[in-house]
Amino acid sequence: MKLLFTLLAGVCLMNIASAADLAAGAAKAKEVCSACHGADGNSTDANFPRLAGQHSDYLAKALRDYKSGDRNNAIMKGFAAALSKKDIENLSAYFSSQRSPLTVKY
Ligand code: HEC
Repeated sequence: MKLLFTLLAGVCLMNIASAADLAAGAAKAKEVCSACHGADGNSTDANFPRLAGQHSDYLAKALRDYKSGDRNNAIMKGFAAALSKKDIENLSAYFSSQRSPLTVKY
């Protein structure tokens, strides 16, 4: 019983450790991404895609692809290159959690 509890507690802690940190994502977004994408991901300039409300998996993949060169864009390559795996996870979760006027509510 004690062992089971220890194992369960361990799994819970692992989940907490791997959960995205929205506050860290918001801080990084404000610092680095907001100039183009808007602090909440609702860019007002058609040259810069809206990130708000986008699926976080999609955002994370786009960032990993810019970083690896699988998706080629001179502007985003530089910004993605500076992001850690954790930054990508936090930023993707943060922008995904933001409301977009384009999001359809069912
Ligand atoms: C100097 C302006 C600029 C900054 C700063 C910037 N981006 Fe971008 N971002 C762009 C442009 C331009 C594109 C479109 C590139 C393309 O066509 O692939 C883009 C595309 C993206 C995409 C793909 C969107 C999609 O719909 O496929 C993501 C995700 C993204 N940026 C995230 C970020 C994050 C996170 C940051 C901050 C770490 C950031 N960007 C900072 C200009 C910028």
